[in-house]
Amino acid sequence: MRTPIIAGNWKLHMNPAQTTEFVAGVKDQLPDSNKVEALICAPAVDLDALASAAKGSNLKVGAENAYFEDEGAFTGETSPKVLAEMGMDYCVIGHSERREYFHETDADINKKAKALFANHITPILCCGESLEKREANQQAEWVVGQIKAALKELSADQVSQLVIAYEPIWAIGTGKTASSDQAEEMCKTIRETVKDLYNEETAENVRIQYGGSVNPSNVKELMAKPNIDGGLVGGASLKPDSFLALVNYQD
Ligand code: 13P
Repeated sequence: MRTPIIAGNWKLHMNPAQTTEFVAGVKDQLPDSNKVEALICAPAVDLDALASAAKGSNLKVGAENAYFEDEGAFTGETSPKVLAEMGMDYCVIGHSERREYFHETDADINKKAKALFANHITPILCCGESLEKREANQQAEWVVGQIKAALKELSADQVSQLVIAYEPIWAIGTGKTASSDQAEEMCKTIRETVKDLYNEETAENVRIQYGGSVNPSNVKELMAKPNIDGGLVGGASLKPDSFLALVNYQD
């Protein structure tokens, strides 16, 4: 059985004081982490505050990005080794904003996945097509290509632990959610791709989130789909009430 995982991706929002206040406002009302994992992925500058505030609670903590080397002359980058030392459980990689604005390639993302696994941090691997690709009905081909490239040389064991986030770019921050059927169709395609690349067991274990304008009113319908195991949520994760409504969607 796959444990659902609802994650906030704060993007470039919040400071350490706001982070501490947010966690204080949610930490006693979170679901049991074996029922639903509740996770916040925050900017690197807030992670110390996030980890301290979340200590002893059901809140899982994560980063939004990491470099693929642990240390060296890489000015401005974030070490996966230090993220592990700080207690990070997860790290988002390959978000479409990083691919678009910071020119991250599939090869970079593959190296990041390996570096995170080496440091015992679970990657949340993002994929998703542009509006142009969707209008040309090339979404499946595009996303399958992203998945194959990102998983190169990863073991079945590693992929069993992985979280994949399907986020169609045209649904991010636009208020235009993919329909639950569109989201399910692509999450199913991703699971079938994992089965083709590895085996049935790995495909059954990998958790697949949908992301793109998820909010408290549509989360239940999305989570009811058999291949959707969670959500990666931007805007609706920034306020404690809304985050609590998302993670407690089963109540
Ligand atoms: P929104 O929930 O704001 O559409 O953002 C989705 C996203 O990019 C999460 O990673």
